[in-house]
Amino acid sequence: MLCGSVGSSLAVAAEGNAAAGKTKTAMCAGCHGIPGYKVAFPVTYEVPKLGGQHASYIVKALQAYRVGDRKNATMHAIATGLSDQDMADLAAYYSSAAVQSAAH
Ligand code: HEC
Repeated sequence: MLCGSVGSSLAVAAEGNAAAGKTKTAMCAGCHGIPGYKVAFPVTYEVPKLGGQHASYIVKALQAYRVGDRKNATMHAIATGLSDQDMADLAAYYSSAAVQSAAH
């Protein structure tokens, strides 16, 4: 009987909050979210679009940059500064329907 309430409070803790995530995108929007924007150093990268991607994909990508499984100096520096909660919130925001329709 107790299991139900314990389980649901754990689920809430692991979940991202899209509204909180939106306030954290200020440091992402300089690169992501500009159609066709390319980062010029040291090689030219196409900056991937984040809006509309799956939340779990975004979190996995950020964790991979943080530990160095995915190699990109810029995103490594950024991911190192994010907490797990930041990542979940950002992922919730970028995967939300509002961003999908606004991202065109
Ligand atoms: C200085 C420019 C810059 C900033 C600022 C930046 N990014 Fe990135 N990001 C990139 C580039 C370039 C890539 C592609 C790197 C690669 O080739 O792996 C990327 C890749 C990603 C990916 C992987 C996307 C995919 O399709 O695989 C995610 C997720 C991501 N960034 C999230 C973020 C978040 C969240 C923030 C803000 C907290 C942020 N980025 C800030 C330049 C930036």
